[in-house]
Amino acid sequence: MAASATPSWFDEIGAQPPIEVFEMNKAFLDDTDPIKVSLGIGAFRTEEGKPWVLPVVKQAEKAIVEDPAMNFEYLPILGLESFTNAATRMLVGADSAAWQEKRAFGVQSISGTGALRIAADFLSTVVPNITKIVYISNPTWENHRLLFLLAGFNEVREYRYWDAQKRGLDLQGLVEDLHAAPERSVVILHACAHNPTGVDPTQEQWKKIVEVVKERKLFPVLDSAYQGFASGDPDADAWAVRYFVSQGVEFVCAQSFAKNFGLYNQRVGNLTVVTNNAATIPNLKSQLTIVVRGNYSNPPAHGARIVSAVLNDPTLTEQWKGHIQTMSGRMKAMRGLLREKLEALKTPGSWKHLTDQIGMFAYTGLTVKQCQFLIDRHHIYLLKSGRINVCGISPKNVDHVSKAIYEAVTTIQE
Ligand SMILES: Cc1ncc(COP(=O)(O)O)c(C=O)c1O
Repeated sequence: MAASATPSWFDEIGAQPPIEVFEMNKAFLDDTDPIKVSLGIGAFRTEEGKPWVLPVVKQAEKAIVEDPAMNFEYLPILGLESFTNAATRMLVGADSAAWQEKRAFGVQSISGTGALRIAADFLSTVVPNITKIVYISNPTWENHRLLFLLAGFNEVREYRYWDAQKRGLDLQGLVEDLHAAPERSVVILHACAHNPTGVDPTQEQWKKIVEVVKERKLFPVLDSAYQGFASGDPDADAWAVRYFVSQGVEFVCAQSFAKNFGLYNQRVGNLTVVTNNAATIPNLKSQLTIVVRGNYSNPPAHGARIVSAVLNDPTLTEQWKGHIQTMSGRMKAMRGLLREKLEALKTPGSWKHLTDQIGMFAYTGLTVKQCQFLIDRHHIYLLKSGRINVCGISPKNVDHVSKAIYEAVTTIQE
C-alpha cells in the first residue's frame, strides 16, 4: 500500500481474495473475443445465451405495477404474508402434516443467501445448546462457510459428499462423518440439485441421512435454491424436505426464488421453519423479528409480490410450472448434447456423469490446470473446481466447447 501523509484507521487493512464466480463473470464480460462462452455464473440462459425473463413473471409484474393501490410502504419485518405462506406451502406441500397442523411458517429473506444468514444468526444466538459447529458438504456452494462463520459459528467441518473416483455420492463417507458429529451440531444439506456436483442422494439414501440426523441429534439447515430444476417438477424436487417433515424432524429451510423464477437481482427468498410444537411459533416469530430487525429491518417488496401473485393463482402457477419444464428441459438437453459431442470426439475418460448429474451444474472432473487452459486458450469461462453451468452450452457453441475440452484433456494430464 502506498504511504500517505495523513495516517488512516485503514492503513493496516489487507485485501481479501476476490469471489471467484463474480470475478470470472467480469472477466467474461470484459473479454472482447466473440467466441467467448460463459459456463460460470449460476443463471439460466436461453439458446442464444441470453437471460430469460419468465413470461408469467412479466405478466404478474405488469398487473402489480398497474394496480392503482400499489405503494412503496414498508413491509412487515417478517415480510409479505401472502408470499411467505405460498413459499412455505410450495416447499412442504399443502397436504403435509406440518402445513395442516400449522407447524410451518416462513420469514421473507434477501434471497436464499439471506435466508441462510437468518438461519445462522437464529441458530447461533437464539436456539439453546447448539454447538456452533456447522457441517457442510465437501464440496459445497462456497458461501456456506462464510455465512456461518460471520454469524458466530466457531467451526466449519466438512462431511464427505463427492466420490471423485466414481463421480458420484460418497454415501458411506457422508454417513460416517455425520455419525462422528457432536450432538446438536448443525448440518447443511442441499434439498435438491446439489451445487456444485449435480448429484443428489436417492430416496433410499436420504432415508439413511435422516436416520443419522435423528440419531446424532443434529439440527438440519436445508438449502433449497433450485426447486424444480432437478426433475422439472417442483413437488418431486421437494421430496427430501417433505421426508424430513414426515419423520417428525424439525428443521429450517432456505428457499431461493432467484433461479426458479429468474428473479436473481430481486433477492426473493424465504426461510421456512418447521417446528414440532405449533405453540412455539409466536415466540419463534418474535425472535426472528429481532434477527431481521438487527440485520436489515424489513425486506423489499417487488419480487415477493410477483412470486406471491404467481403462487396464489392456480392458472399462473401452471404457467410457471411450464416455464420450469422449459428451463430444466434445456439443461437436460445440453447435458446430452455435450456428452454426445465429447464421446464423438473420443475424448479420453467417461462422460456419462454429465447426463447422470441433474440440475443446472455439471461437475466435469476437469482439473484446475485444464480449466485454466480453457479460460486462457479458448475463452471458455468456468470455475476452477471444474463446475460448469450447462445453460451456458448451446447448439451454436457446443462444438467449440467440446473440442476445447478434448484439447484440454489430451494435452494436460494433471
Ligand atoms: C446451494 C445454493 N444455496 C443458496 C444460493 C443462494 O442464492 P441467492 O442468494 O441468489 O438466492 C445459491 C446460489 O447460487 C446456491 O447455489
